[in-house]
Amino acid sequence: MTQSTSTWLYRHPASKLSADGRRISFGADYNPEQWPREVWDEDIRLMKQANVDVVSIAIFSWARLQPAEDRWDFDWLDELMDLLAEAGIGADLATATASPPAWLVTEHPEVLPVTENGTVLSPGGRQHWRPTSPVFRKHALTLVRTLAERYGDHPALVAWHVNNELGCHNLYDYSDDAARAFRSWLQRRYGSVDRLNRSWSTDFWSQRYEDFEQVLPPRTAASFPNPAQQLDFHRFSSDALKQHFIAERDVLRSVTPEVPVTTNFMVMGENKGMNYADWAGELDFVANDHYRQPVANSQEELSFSAATTSSVAQGRPWFLMEHSTSAVNWQPINRPKRSGELQRDSLAHVAHGADAVCYFQWRQSAGGAEKYHSAMVPHAGEDSRLYRSVMELGETLRRLDPVAGSRRQPAQVAVLMDWESWWASELDSHPTEDLRYRPELFAWWLALLDLGVRADVVQSHQDFSDYEMVIAPVLHVVPTPLKERLEHYVDSGGHLVTTFFSGTVDEDDRVWLGGYPGALRELLGVRVEEFAPLYRDESVMLDDGSVGQLWSEPIDCVDGTEVLRRYRGGELDGRAAITRREHGSGSATYVSTKLDHAGLSAILSELVRYTGVAIETPASLLGRVEITRRTGEGGDFLFVINRTDEALDISEFGGEALIGANQDSTILDPRGVAVLRVS
Ligand code: GAL
Repeated sequence: MTQSTSTWLYRHPASKLSADGRRISFGADYNPEQWPREVWDEDIRLMKQANVDVVSIAIFSWARLQPAEDRWDFDWLDELMDLLAEAGIGADLATATASPPAWLVTEHPEVLPVTENGTVLSPGGRQHWRPTSPVFRKHALTLVRTLAERYGDHPALVAWHVNNELGCHNLYDYSDDAARAFRSWLQRRYGSVDRLNRSWSTDFWSQRYEDFEQVLPPRTAASFPNPAQQLDFHRFSSDALKQHFIAERDVLRSVTPEVPVTTNFMVMGENKGMNYADWAGELDFVANDHYRQPVANSQEELSFSAATTSSVAQGRPWFLMEHSTSAVNWQPINRPKRSGELQRDSLAHVAHGADAVCYFQWRQSAGGAEKYHSAMVPHAGEDSRLYRSVMELGETLRRLDPVAGSRRQPAQVAVLMDWESWWASELDSHPTEDLRYRPELFAWWLALLDLGVRADVVQSHQDFSDYEMVIAPVLHVVPTPLKERLEHYVDSGGHLVTTFFSGTVDEDDRVWLGGYPGALRELLGVRVEEFAPLYRDESVMLDDGSVGQLWSEPIDCVDGTEVLRRYRGGELDGRAAITRREHGSGSATYVSTKLDHAGLSAILSELVRYTGVAIETPASLLGRVEITRRTGEGGDFLFVINRTDEALDISEFGGEALIGANQDSTILDPRGVAVLRVS
């Protein structure tokens, strides 16, 4: 894999926690300032009992640490750090900048974010700050420096945790600060206003600019805002938060160069705002938060997110900074996890490269907006099913220590993810407003999983040349260098699969002319004159009986392009629906509709046979387990995740079980996870 920046340095905080650095860490966000002092001793006792070795602290503590601009209170944090050090528990110490205190927003209301229609967001929740506010930045960096100088040498400190989930609530800010920063960002990107005019196609609707000073963020407008402006605003907003991260990180590095710095990403569901593939190289180690999404196949969505995190981390181990022991509080209806799910969810992240399993949060809050969010110690207290499950997981993780430091072993197939295509394909005034980028990727991932094919996620800027097959659904934005890399991949024997609305535009959201799929037209050997999206209650039938929704296209094939499926019935009866063009020993397959699961499985089965990709799951377990592999100094490990509610016989895998099955019994519990050392 190529690195996105040269600053990557993988430094796992656990190296400070165990002699050989080989440890799957276990812990949580810990918010003791919400509790009387006597509870802290109880917390430490229970943490030790549960094998907790790391906690993230002070995440939302700015108001306690700095009650007024000229007043600081560190006594409680000094005491807490000492307690943790004595107990051998590491502190992932937050910079506490996530939620500005009342004095700051009262004296400086100009730090508050502004929505696209001009509403100023009030304090009272959290993360009410503008990513580009110089006033906020100044106060935040003062706090960061003060914390770094005070705790940099503390024995409990294992890592710095910058802010919290940057962009969770303040990603898109349309304030005057944002407008100024956006203009400078554009000036750096384009150099001249003429270039901006060309890239933004501003001759359309009389949008020409004479000066950068005339440019605004895409605030609520009379009609559709300029799409290239919107795409750049996505880029800019992600970048502005990344720059905030870098600003805090640089202060930390200047004071404590030896302490690793991270921040918690939110690779999950439809969180598209922060281009983590672009951010990751700035962190010393990648950390991610994941909560089960309220979607069908949420277990598999978890795996897909974890695989995506692994790709963002460039295959290196990463840190699961937050997930939940049971119910959350922010979905319309918040159900507890079923038995076995606490352990399976955590271990599924480890299966995809996590070297730490942490929760939000240690002790369930008695008050505040998250009091009904589960925790490691629930309202019911120590004598509870939940805390016992937590202790059990703590013990399980100790048996997995040999896995720590190992890398997720690359698969033969990858689903290609491209953040810019995510942003651009979901813009307004498109052929359909129903297209969602990530579910398209997930559908292919799930079909591969059900076929027993192990797959990776690969980011579009990364090297994908070693994969037998690369599946790039809705690869909408294809700049010339990516076009050339894809052509080279296929020319060198790779098998590319792509779908409708791919290759359509360049990096300026300008259409590649001459027929769709534009940049990929020649590679795929097809030409499409008009998109034919489908109404919500409409579908199309293919000649193998599979069903397409959302999209269809009348395809013209050039000579030599093979038709794998045709449309049956309707306007497109008999026209090509799925095609393949061979190039040397490689090929390029085009899928022109959104296939149902059966259709995806059928075409993927053919592609797997055609490309010679291995099916690693035994036939008897197809669709019932997920398999991942990790390889490192501790050995080669096979993770077998039981996706079902039934016990499964996994004797076919062999190997020595670290957890989940043993020589006497090769039966994997319902929702269980086995980790087998296979060499
Ligand atoms: C995360 C956040 C935590 C907590 C958690 C609840 O977004 O970082 O502070 O709010 O969600 O699920």
